[in-house]
Amino acid sequence: MNATSVEGATAHPVSLTVNGQARTVQVHPWTTLLDLLREQLDLTGSKKGCDHGQCGACTVLRDGKRVNACLTLAIRCEGADLVTIEGLADGDTLHPLQRAFIKQDAFQCGYCTPGQICSAVGLAREGRAHTREAIREHMSGNLCRCGAYSNIIAAVEEALPQMREVSE
Ligand code: FES
Ligand code: FES
Repeated sequence: MNATSVEGATAHPVSLTVNGQARTVQVHPWTTLLDLLREQLDLTGSKKGCDHGQCGACTVLRDGKRVNACLTLAIRCEGADLVTIEGLADGDTLHPLQRAFIKQDAFQCGYCTPGQICSAVGLAREGRAHTREAIREHMSGNLCRCGAYSNIIAAVEEALPQMREVSE
């Protein structure tokens, strides 16, 4: 596909909810959800690490389930209810997982952190992380180049009981 055909291609309307706000956007058939969030909606908390579904830095919640935004086509998100890292806090009150990440010092550069936190919110809803080993296993799709894994797991372990209460 050359540049002319890309520029001349038709964009399509998609209506969705992002962090509680109804939005209608125009997207091309190849636009990823990650690019929609970052480039069109200025929600840059979700990070582009690999852009190939390998690192988890782009993880967001779609209808309550964690997804890799870089592997999700925006045009397939008609009617979706999306939550990104920007939508987790309740005003000035941080999400329990955000508080636990700060308390446990669970980041260094912070690049992976939004994806780690969104992934852990999704994990809590899945209800299958009852041990430290299970948390480690089910968070294995979220890589951390800084190697902050032990603190990340500790933060998730600390916040899980509160997140289960929130999601019930
Ligand atoms: S940027 Fe999506 S998985 Fe790496
Ligand atoms: S804190 Fe740097 S990549 Fe995880």
